[in-house]
Amino acid sequence: MRSFLFVPADSGKKLDKAMTSGADALIIDLEDSIALDGKAQARQSAAAFLREAMAAPNRPYLLVRVNGLQTGLTDADLDAVAPVKPDAIMLPKAEGGAAVTHADAKLAVREALSGLPDGHIKILPIATETAAALFLMGSFAGASARLIGLTWGAEDLSAELGAHANRDAENRFLDPYRLARALCLAGAAAAQVPAIDTVYVDFRDEKGFRRECEEACRDGFVGKMAIHPTQVPIINEVFTPSPEALARAQKIVDAFAQNPGAGVVGIGGVMYDRPHLARAQRLLAQQR
Ligand code: COA
Ligand code: MG
Repeated sequence: MRSFLFVPADSGKKLDKAMTSGADALIIDLEDSIALDGKAQARQSAAAFLREAMAAPNRPYLLVRVNGLQTGLTDADLDAVAPVKPDAIMLPKAEGGAAVTHADAKLAVREALSGLPDGHIKILPIATETAAALFLMGSFAGASARLIGLTWGAEDLSAELGAHANRDAENRFLDPYRLARALCLAGAAAAQVPAIDTVYVDFRDEKGFRRECEEACRDGFVGKMAIHPTQVPIINEVFTPSPEALARAQKIVDAFAQNPGAGVVGIGGVMYDRPHLARAQRLLAQQR
């Protein structure tokens, strides 16, 4: 999955529009885009939408962003949406693998009550939204079989750090957030799950957005979150490997297959060793 589009759960119009946006996944938001006194209404709206959308042909992957475990709102969120079986929940302000294990247990109870198989609903945590979370980025391996990836956030983190900004005048992330981004990549790799890049809130800045997609793809992220439908086609384009990249990867895999004992091969005057093989295999696997 490449593109994950956020949609506030209380907007029927945006929910409908999102279904035809071309996004690989929709994140129906019960958290930051919903005011506190609108939570109950938003839960009902999310459940009603999911009841229909889950049955739609060729539908996107459907996640619900619940409120964080610190808020006391998570249980009511899960009570409302678990019975309609979203593919996954997004867990914001997650502090390490322990938070994922905690959410796993909460989901297991709801699955039992709704007659769903255990482990049906997956978890995608936002792993860098508090200062404490940054020190727990190596703890996601083995936290839960529900873990499908790791993503990161800079908005809540900058509020917690007391920063006045998280990007510079060119819309590039400042150091504390580049650290969070790098930790997300490393944490995801250590847990053997894909890393998904964070949002770009300046949704009219197409050039800056495309640059950030390209840099994320270059560095190892396999997809990116969007807040506006216009961002979706750019994500899909940038994170779809080019035919040339796929052909290059296939050549590397083929060269090692033809030399089973080899630790290193040469193709077209360039050296490829085991890490290159692993990267090529991963790129080809993404296509399946
Ligand atoms: N999903 C689906 N549709 C969306 C959308 C989204 N995330 N964001 C905008 N749209 C729709 C609008 O409703 C509008 O539809 P219309 O043409 O039928 O009227 C169209 O796309 C163009 O929207 P635009 O006028 O450019 O933006 P806006 O001012 O209506 O909305 C935001 C701007 C930021 C409020 C909106 O993009 C949004 O709600 N984004 C998601 C916010 C969110 O979930 N944040 C939490 C995660 S950080
Ligand atoms: Mg937030």
